[in-house]
Amino acid sequence: MFIFPDLSNELHAMQDAGIVISPWLAGLSSEGRLDAALYSDMSTRAREFAHVHWTEEERVRVLHHFPSPDRIPQIAVHEIVASIAVYLAHERTGQLEVDEPLIEEAMKLVTQFVSEHSFGTLLQLYMLVTSWENQNALKHFGEIPERNFVLGGWHRPWVDYSLGEELMFAALLGNVEVIERDGHRFVRLTEEGEQALERASEMLEQAGYFKQRLQFLRISQFNLYDAYEQVADEIWPDTPQQRKDFVQFVGMHPGMRVLELGCANGPLTFEGGLANAVQPGGHIIAVDPSTGMLARARTKQRSLQIDWIEFMYGRAESLPFDAGSFDMVLGTGFLHFTDLKLSIPEMTRLVRPGGVIGSWHPLKADLNVPFFREWFAPLFELAAKRAERPRDFLIEPNTVNEALVMAGLIRVEERSMPVITMFHDPVKVVNHFIRGVGWFSEELAPLPWKAREDLIEDLIERGKYVCERFTPEERVFRFPGQAIRAKRPIR
Ligand SMILES: C[S@@+](CC[C@H](N)C(=O)[O-])C[C@H]1O[C@@H](n2cnc3c(N)ncnc32)[C@H](O)[C@@H]1O
Repeated sequence: MFIFPDLSNELHAMQDAGIVISPWLAGLSSEGRLDAALYSDMSTRAREFAHVHWTEEERVRVLHHFPSPDRIPQIAVHEIVASIAVYLAHERTGQLEVDEPLIEEAMKLVTQFVSEHSFGTLLQLYMLVTSWENQNALKHFGEIPERNFVLGGWHRPWVDYSLGEELMFAALLGNVEVIERDGHRFVRLTEEGEQALERASEMLEQAGYFKQRLQFLRISQFNLYDAYEQVADEIWPDTPQQRKDFVQFVGMHPGMRVLELGCANGPLTFEGGLANAVQPGGHIIAVDPSTGMLARARTKQRSLQIDWIEFMYGRAESLPFDAGSFDMVLGTGFLHFTDLKLSIPEMTRLVRPGGVIGSWHPLKADLNVPFFREWFAPLFELAAKRAERPRDFLIEPNTVNEALVMAGLIRVEERSMPVITMFHDPVKVVNHFIRGVGWFSEELAPLPWKAREDLIEDLIERGKYVCERFTPEERVFRFPGQAIRAKRPIR
């Protein structure tokens, strides 16, 4: 279709240029990521930008004889700039709130892209992504009541404008039709629309856009993970003692300089005994990418009056410290969230020769047990469509040991420390694992928003039923777990 010709090269160029088209990161309703003044200022700037760059010449080049949509160009600029800014904020600070300098930076990236590739190209990419969201939802639901479609309630609830113009445009292109039944109007895909969806899916898949989209969806639910501390002790009742055992296992001594990774709100740092083990003569830098967690760790620190710890934003993959700065680099329950190819070499770089790195983490488990299979059956079914088992992203046994040896560490020692997990409270379990940590997010990502939400609600209901059918003992799951320590050679 001429409006969406093969845009593969442009999709790659967009990713290389740091252009993020992820409207769900950008909406005003998205938990105050942009405050109202900044949002309205941006709208004005987006309108002006579109006015200057969306020329008649561009319209003819991209749309041929079709009339120009009235508001889509300015909405596109607004949502692209905002989603770049939110993405950058998250990358750099772990927060989703955006300030003016970030908007400036995002605006510059868009200006640069437009000067190299044209405004029409940017608009085509935006329309490719948003019409994929529309068509994918129509395909999933078969049809959507027109009113719901226009309000975006089933598939783009973050919009605060009408999707009427997008609907009109898709109908003009022949991709959708509106039918009337019993006095109600419904939107559905035409055969041409189905083909357009297939072509768009192929193009987006090949250009790696769906991988990016999964990452953006995870970011957008990122802060939900903050509820961790409210569920941790209930879901993993054995972990408080296990963290203490881990501190013993790694051999912490008074006076050590320690880097703790993935510290969250400090269950290892404080209750687990890390701070006590190094004592006031030592020093701990504790990092985490969740600023909400760090804020609560600092509150705990103040109430305990412990001043030999610094809490900082940071990810295990790359940290701003000199090589060999620490006697020990360690953490609990964080390694499976990191990119091991980067985090293990970084941990190795940061520990001094003769120093120790340590981690306690859960390992991949066979989730095909009766209560789990029954509870999470819809996810198994979704995965089966791809001829796969649901992915849980936990680490395979031996992967860490091998990575440590590859990184040049010696005396790799390990102890089995299972992660005993209670599947008792369906709301907490589902909110934590599915919404928060993002288990099975690959299965859920292709679903339109409402289908995702309905499925999550369904999982909570199924959980209630499963909790009646299976005894509490049958619902305890022992994830294999590994405590590991290794030494950096002196030379
Ligand atoms: C399950 S919690 C574990 C927290 C705590 N250490 C404990 O023992 O309970 C995982 C923590 O890892 C953090 N995290 C996620 N990705 C990370 C990364 N790339 N580098 C470091 N920490 C990360 C999360 O923000 C979260 O606070």
